[in-house]
Amino acid sequence: MEFLICVICVYLRPILRALCVSAVDYVTYKEGTMADSVLAQLGLGGRAAVVTGAGQGLGRGMALALAQAGADVAALDLNLATAEGVAAEIAALGRRALALRADVSQADQVQAAADAVIAAWGRADILVNNAGISCHDPSAEMALADWRRVLDVNLTGVFIGCQVFGRHMLARGSGRIINIASMSALIVNRGVPQAPYYASKAGVVMLTKALAAEWAPRVRVNAIAPGYMRTPLNEGFLADPQRAAEWTTTTPAGRVGEPADLGGAVVYLASDASSFVTGHVLVVDGGFTLW
Ligand SMILES: NC(=O)c1ccc[n+]([C@@H]2O[C@H](COP(=O)([O-])OP(=O)(O)OC[C@H]3O[C@@H](n4cnc5c(N)ncnc54)[C@H](O)[C@@H]3O)[C@@H](O)[C@H]2O)c1
Repeated sequence: MEFLICVICVYLRPILRALCVSAVDYVTYKEGTMADSVLAQLGLGGRAAVVTGAGQGLGRGMALALAQAGADVAALDLNLATAEGVAAEIAALGRRALALRADVSQADQVQAAADAVIAAWGRADILVNNAGISCHDPSAEMALADWRRVLDVNLTGVFIGCQVFGRHMLARGSGRIINIASMSALIVNRGVPQAPYYASKAGVVMLTKALAAEWAPRVRVNAIAPGYMRTPLNEGFLADPQRAAEWTTTTPAGRVGEPADLGGAVVYLASDASSFVTGHVLVVDGGFTLW
């Protein structure tokens, strides 16, 4: 009898878990409702997630939040060493983890990464398109190559991620994509000349809405628009005491954001708790855009 129970636990548990996850997907898709409690709806157990630009900053923070909520997470980055470091942190949380090197602006590299995730885990349920760069040259002096690189990574890179993983999700009948825009899609940051960044992030907002409309009801596509956050991208700005004080006092929350401040937003949008939300831009800026 004990032997029989052991066999059931070891061999049948993963199969039962997969069947339960598929059943939850089916109910959510068919009826748009679940009998579970709201906390159960927020759980991501059995889901496979991919986060781009996961090696540091906001991407790392969101990869860890998804893993804390139960998801297996693939950390994709241009920098394989940092992606491997984050994958080790995810594994330490008891989840399956992958580290992948890819440039999000190169479709063949993103396709190879998607193939690796699907070969390893059989599916990709959640994609967070987070990788992004900036360029702070005044527009009159900016090299066209710099404009093109920012648009290539921040906007075309998001489209490539959506297209590659979206095809897989559409074929499976479900998926959740979260694109990282910025409050700089909605406003211009005082004293920060970065025209291609503003244009690319505004593009991410409209791309999110376009794909949400095209791919509903199978694939939900939402965006997060963070405010000023403490990450390596902003190290230079925050090292300047005057700039740091300005960002703090002009944010109603009275501080800049930390990567962990996006955890709740990304888990919500990746989970069944947001099953009726698509094409939305969730602003997480401590109230900065209110003033
Ligand atoms: N930090 C902020 O205040 C803030 C505010 C709003 C939006 N954002 C957006 O959040 C995202 C993450 O920002 P962050 O502050 O964590 O930046 P970061 O520079 O700290 O990290 C970006 C990560 O993306 C990776 N990356 C860069 N180009 C890549 C490419 N072509 N392919 C794959 N990976 C690439 C980098 O290696 C790095 O690990 C960006 O899209 C950024 O525009 C940041």
